[in-house]
Amino acid sequence: MTRETDLMRFETAHRPRPHVNALVRPHHLFTTEQRCTAAIKAGWNVFKFPSKMLMGGDLLSDSGTTTLTVDQDAMMRKADEAYGNNWGYEQLLDRLTETVGIPRDECHIYLFHQCRRVEDVLYSHLRGAPIIVPSNSFFDTTRANAEANNVQALDLPDTSVHEFKGNIDLDALERVLDANHSNVPFVLMTVTNNTGGGQPASLDNMQAARNIAHANRTSFFLDACRFAENAWFIQQHEKAYAGWSITAIVHKMFSLCDGFTISFKKDGLANMGGALLIKKDAPLLVRQKDLVKKLRRIQTRTEGHESYGGISGRDIMAIVEGLPYVVTNQYLDGRIEQVHDFGTYMKELGIPVLEPFGGHAVYIDTDRFFSDTRMRREDFGGIAVCAVLLLKGVRLCELGCFAFGKYDPDTDKEILPERNYIRAALPRGKYERDDLCYVGDCIKAVYDRRFELPCAVPVFDRDEPLRNFTARFELTY
Ligand code: F0G
Repeated sequence: MTRETDLMRFETAHRPRPHVNALVRPHHLFTTEQRCTAAIKAGWNVFKFPSKMLMGGDLLSDSGTTTLTVDQDAMMRKADEAYGNNWGYEQLLDRLTETVGIPRDECHIYLFHQCRRVEDVLYSHLRGAPIIVPSNSFFDTTRANAEANNVQALDLPDTSVHEFKGNIDLDALERVLDANHSNVPFVLMTVTNNTGGGQPASLDNMQAARNIAHANRTSFFLDACRFAENAWFIQQHEKAYAGWSITAIVHKMFSLCDGFTISFKKDGLANMGGALLIKKDAPLLVRQKDLVKKLRRIQTRTEGHESYGGISGRDIMAIVEGLPYVVTNQYLDGRIEQVHDFGTYMKELGIPVLEPFGGHAVYIDTDRFFSDTRMRREDFGGIAVCAVLLLKGVRLCELGCFAFGKYDPDTDKEILPERNYIRAALPRGKYERDDLCYVGDCIKAVYDRRFELPCAVPVFDRDEPLRNFTARFELTY
């Protein structure tokens, strides 16, 4: 077990000056000792660390952490918190269908309080045995909801195209569908691919995946959480769509799918909300004719009336105002270039980052970070990096051996995933360049002392699904 004093040197080694902008409350009044005590109490779990102790660098997630625009704020004040059919509801349906280019009378829309609830409801209603859903990659909560409902979540990533490392492996997809197509209710394309570095998928790849799905009479769905960021990469890098507007690209993306799940906490630019949209002619509804009714039934029973579905009137108004803004170059250029600048800053400091940079986050390659040290993958070095950074008031999250790995109680061994990253996700509209330089400097200080970092030993909830949310660790040498 590591003593507090052992860890304190990571703070004193290098103390960059944080720049605290007007949007970030000055919480830097806490001492390193106080943070250390709080982190030990939290079992070094980043989710449990008090956010008030952070110092201008909370890059745990880009989800629900968006700073609302003045226009969104104004719209929220106009919200109608009625129990049935508040006036924002009709506006939301109009805005959503206009944004994605799907006419309202051609689809069924279900609102939920956030996307993981959408996923649970959808996956729990799929029929067949066994059920397989192939994807470019499932994100952790999506996978957990699929698996909790006995659905096999099959990752088939294709990272061979540099600009579109979020593609799906078309040959592998074809093989899966050839062997099992009656067991595949839909193919899921996650845009952008959060598990694989926030990387985009190309329209060419989406079109081909959709053709394969349809040739097998199955549906093509999007996990559309970061659809606008994905569209921006298509506009920049896919030759056939150079010169297209973001809106035109978004319409093309959604014209290919038979339905989608979305968390408005990302590219809805809101703090809460999720939805499921299914086109009326989706092959899934041919296979499961009663699905529409059953989904509405469970929505009403567990989330609320279809006209709010667990989202408050205020949050509905924030989404109504957020959707048209998220598809503008005015917004997206600044957003993704900020991620790019931050990644470049870290790269120039020598920190091993994943390239190209994604749309919402910079991913540090944990295996390269520790490649010249004695840290083994099962020592969860990524957890240790995140733990030590808490002392500096900086919060990142591990997306690698711990978050995506599994403990096998039969062999008492870890089943380790291929990808092993630490993610620095940028909340939308929140931080300025100096804030991010501070984070980069803190990471660099830890990187320089990587040989001295402790191992992270899980001492609680190692065998739970989504264990990264609840586990506690001890840091040991
Ligand atoms: N799908 C993807 C690709 C996601 O990134 C997330 C959430 C979800 C689904 C679930 O959405 O939070 O509304 O339930 N990702 C967040 C993250 C939590 O930090 O990347 P939700």
